[in-house]
Amino acid sequence: MFLQRCITADCRAEYKLDEHLYVCSRCGGLLDVERAEDIEFDPVSLRELWRERRASGDERDRSGVWRFREFLPFGEEAPVVSLGEGNTPLYDAPRSANYCRRPQLKLKHQGCNPTGSFKDTGMTAAVTQARKLGARVVVCASTGNTAASLAAYAARAELLCAIVVPGGQVSHAKLAQALDYGAKVLEIEGNFDACMNQIRELSEDGSVYLVNSINPFRIEGQKTVAFELAEQLEWRVPDHLVLPGGNLGNSSALGKGFRELLQSGLIDRQPQITVVQAAGAAPFARFYSQHERGFANEEHPKTLASAIKIGAPVSWQKAWRAVRETNGRVITVTEQEIADAKAVIGRDGIGCEPASATTVAGIRKLVSEGAIKEDETVVAVLTGHLLKDTDYVMKYHSETLIAPDGERIVSNFGNPVNHGSPANPVKSLLDRITGLT
Ligand code: F0G
Repeated sequence: MFLQRCITADCRAEYKLDEHLYVCSRCGGLLDVERAEDIEFDPVSLRELWRERRASGDERDRSGVWRFREFLPFGEEAPVVSLGEGNTPLYDAPRSANYCRRPQLKLKHQGCNPTGSFKDTGMTAAVTQARKLGARVVVCASTGNTAASLAAYAARAELLCAIVVPGGQVSHAKLAQALDYGAKVLEIEGNFDACMNQIRELSEDGSVYLVNSINPFRIEGQKTVAFELAEQLEWRVPDHLVLPGGNLGNSSALGKGFRELLQSGLIDRQPQITVVQAAGAAPFARFYSQHERGFANEEHPKTLASAIKIGAPVSWQKAWRAVRETNGRVITVTEQEIADAKAVIGRDGIGCEPASATTVAGIRKLVSEGAIKEDETVVAVLTGHLLKDTDYVMKYHSETLIAPDGERIVSNFGNPVNHGSPANPVKSLLDRITGLT
């Protein structure tokens, strides 16, 4: 029913689902998983079925990914590896909305997944495919979240797991997760892009399965976020969907998800997909504004948002398709803008990691430029949990956060710890904080 197909327009080679590939063996292009034949779906009964599954006790029905399995390339007999991923909240966020001057803003918090990032929605699918293929070892390169997620799902599937990370550039929280879940972690000198090159070589061995977002099965899992989001909005799609861009798997996945929903008559239009990058790690934004020059990697990506410190995004062609098809944009935001937006999101009681805050910073910019209009609805995807990078948070609030160019970040929304002393007892401190005296 499903197959793998090369996305390159003049190739379009087809492969069976059980072929152990990451790119087209004919032309090297990226692969999509596609339905082999057109199937007519009845949108009303599908919506009903998906809603009913939410009340079921079946492990697959309780997962926000497998609940939508009519659109996933795994049969009923698939050896599903799940941690109950998905089902993440869609929040109103009045302070963030006010900051962006965008009253109709909602935040889809993918940081509420089992390992604290959106990666889990893809990893459940990729590790299930690894099991189907009979792989012994699963591997990835990572800036931290993919590592944490893969390590957890590999542990559940009882597969060996090896991870390559850029030395000294991954937050302790993410590394701690990978170690606790039992993955073998290898730090190398160099950045994420160097890790990616190494891991691609390693995965030429047939017993090893690579689950970075170049893997089309991972994208299949991640695309279900579009389904869940559309359902939460009662199938009324927002005008804009804004998400951070690093390796560009997530923008590719959401683009694919909304495209399939439209093709199946479940929604009547797609949101405009805007990808936001940190200004120091923005090869995709550069391509967007000068695409006639072709895509060029960023040799030395720099940003404190370490999750998206990526110069050679493997999925840029798929993300470009999503942006072009939906009439979206690719923009950049500065380190200062990311830091402030992150603190504002925190004040909504939500919180996220720095990479995720590019979204609210980006929306603020788009509103001020008139690219998002007064009456338009906007959803920002928060990709990772606040606790993923507490070092950054503490530095921001104590005014010691330094950008990669050496500039000190101004803590416009700083909230430093207050220190008590015998001369400054707790009561007077509290009075001061609450403004009672
Ligand atoms: N936000 C967070 C929190 C991430 O961890 C990542 C990517 C992104 C955004 C960007 O998503 O790569 O699909 O464009 N993290 C990867 C990792 C690279 O290894 O954890 P993308």
